[in-house]
Amino acid sequence: MEELLREAAERAIRYLDSLETRRVWPEADAIDALGRLDGPLPNRPTDAQTVLALLDEVASPATVASAGGRYFGFVTGGALPAALAANWLAGAWDQNTVLWAGSPAGAALEQIALRWLVDVLNLPPECDGALVTGATMANFTGLAAARHAVLEKAGWDVEGEGLFGAPPITVVVGDEAHASLLKALGLLGLGRNRVVRVPTDRYGRMRAKALPPLTGPTIVCLQAGNVNTGAFDPAAEICPAAQAAGAWIHVDGAFGLWAAASPAFAHLAAGFELADSWAADAHKWLNVPYDNGLVFVRDPVALRAAMSVTAAYLVTGGRREPSHYSPELSRRARGVEVWAALLSLGHEGLAELVERTCRHARRLANGLAAAGYKILNRVILNQVLVSFDDDETTRQVIVAIQADGTCWAGETVWHGRVALRISVSSWATTEADVERCLAAMLRVARDVR
Ligand SMILES: Cc1ncc(COP(=O)(O)O)c(C=O)c1O
Repeated sequence: MEELLREAAERAIRYLDSLETRRVWPEADAIDALGRLDGPLPNRPTDAQTVLALLDEVASPATVASAGGRYFGFVTGGALPAALAANWLAGAWDQNTVLWAGSPAGAALEQIALRWLVDVLNLPPECDGALVTGATMANFTGLAAARHAVLEKAGWDVEGEGLFGAPPITVVVGDEAHASLLKALGLLGLGRNRVVRVPTDRYGRMRAKALPPLTGPTIVCLQAGNVNTGAFDPAAEICPAAQAAGAWIHVDGAFGLWAAASPAFAHLAAGFELADSWAADAHKWLNVPYDNGLVFVRDPVALRAAMSVTAAYLVTGGRREPSHYSPELSRRARGVEVWAALLSLGHEGLAELVERTCRHARRLANGLAAAGYKILNRVILNQVLVSFDDDETTRQVIVAIQADGTCWAGETVWHGRVALRISVSSWATTEADVERCLAAMLRVARDVR
């Protein structure tokens, strides 16, 4: 075991060292070679060192270098050193954080991490929450608490009776709600299509004045951080009126909620603390390894009612039981990496991480704009949308940038226009990375045009 783990650590360190020089998107040959991992499962065992060597030699070259500083795809954080080291240690612990009895360390770290998060994200201190796989499941969990609360108020026990015969719930979303929020609504039986869509403005924010009159059981879903533009819905305007009408307000703040952790950007997240539930991701801006999502609910009773199992064998006394707050029972100790990342950064380091990545995003936007390319969004956060000309040319430039390998960013369509979407979310991105990637984008765009 010892020799094997040392070898794994050495291979992992060599991999991380290679990120500085390697292409971001893997070579086609490396992807083709993945076939070497396939074939019928052998009858006989394979020794662990051979398994590890095969993984590293065949799979490592076919990975996307998203742990490095030149990956700007989707909204993807890297892994902070303390968080990665904690992840390795937690792998060795192999704890089941279903209950306190399954892992006092895992349960305690989760509880502490959640308390620290409530503080740095400027959420109400009475919140409780859970660590789940990502913002999709965080949306699911927060909305399950919402579903419970609005139906309980209408005299209906949704956990017991389901939605058959239940009073209808009105679900209000912004026209640019993330697709994963709609998926979560579908999973909860609330429907992806029966939502009331509120039009958005030219920045991608919900228009507060276009909110429909709210009556009966209602859930209003706000967004802190539009995945394309980084824009924030006007929470300070919407929350008081919606809550006065008895609605539950849920916030999808997958990455945008982290703005609250920086004094320079906290104004963007102002008003979201008035909501009732929040989803965010730790694997995005907090830069902990995948997968790690965060959900918070102002009324812990509603969260527990939606999530806890009541089987007698799981009732274990007065401790806070992590799985009474999350959709899973058996679960890994996600709090370990969150706790380690937060402790290693402190308030100042976290604020600096948010500010530094936003500064990099602005530099990329300014450099592209100076070369004559159109920045389609107001760069208020870490997301940049760039058009290189008409849609066809932009598409060609995007494909060429991805093939070039210096960096990687994805294509999106925003307000009818094709754009390259650059998201700077990784602790690992340096100023040198930014200049190198900007030069590569400009060179490739010039060549294509
Ligand atoms: C606004 C928003 N919500 C939800 C998600 C989904 O997050 P996850 O992939 O962690 O489930 C994303 C991902 O980028 C997002 O930007």
